[in-house]
Amino acid sequence: MLRKRLVILISGRGSNMAALVRACRDQAWPADVVGVVASRPGSAGAAWAREQGLPVIELDHRAYPDRAAFDAALIAAIDPLKPDWVVLAGFMRVLTPVFVAHYADRLINIHPSLLPAFPGVTTHRQVLAAGVRVHGATVHMVVNEVDSGRILAQAVVPVRDGDDETTLGERVLRAEHRLYPMVIGWLVHDRMRVRGGEPAWRDPADAAPRWLWCDE
Ligand code: GAR
Repeated sequence: MLRKRLVILISGRGSNMAALVRACRDQAWPADVVGVVASRPGSAGAAWAREQGLPVIELDHRAYPDRAAFDAALIAAIDPLKPDWVVLAGFMRVLTPVFVAHYADRLINIHPSLLPAFPGVTTHRQVLAAGVRVHGATVHMVVNEVDSGRILAQAVVPVRDGDDETTLGERVLRAEHRLYPMVIGWLVHDRMRVRGGEPAWRDPADAAPRWLWCDE
């Protein structure tokens, strides 16, 4: 089987990228992280990726006049890497319809809430203000509407009395680090396929639960 090719897009810390890189290596996925693209220069995530010997491309979004120009530069950087999937891991840029269409069925994101609840940023703050008792993370296909697209899997975490944004955010992040490798693992092993934006198990007998309970 041809090895699958992953390109990971980051903006800052890159802990989800690191979780994917480690899973790819430690679980001997039939896949390679063939490139990391960072939208801000000097990010911690880019430094870590370089230490791992991964090819890193830094594209400073501020150097481009508009979204269309930045996304064109992104495509020009990503396409030579011939990705099977472009994996957004804390990539804090809204992508243009041209970019989204270019990577249709190959563009995946993780968001720190149980979508469709709490889209946008500051999800942990919104969750605490709303008083809901469970929170989590969602891995989903990327479509033109932000934080939409078919859900591939979700991780659920409890909201505890006394939680603040930090404690809750850390619990969600630990859940993300389990959830994202689980889903990308299904894809690289060809257990799950996405066609026309719709995920499906290649073999329904091989279907796995598409959610996790994470109470760590
Ligand atoms: C993660 O919590 C991720 O879900 C979130 O940014 C954080 C990145 O952390 N992404 C979004 O909010 C996208 N809308 P990381 O850089 O350590 O992976």
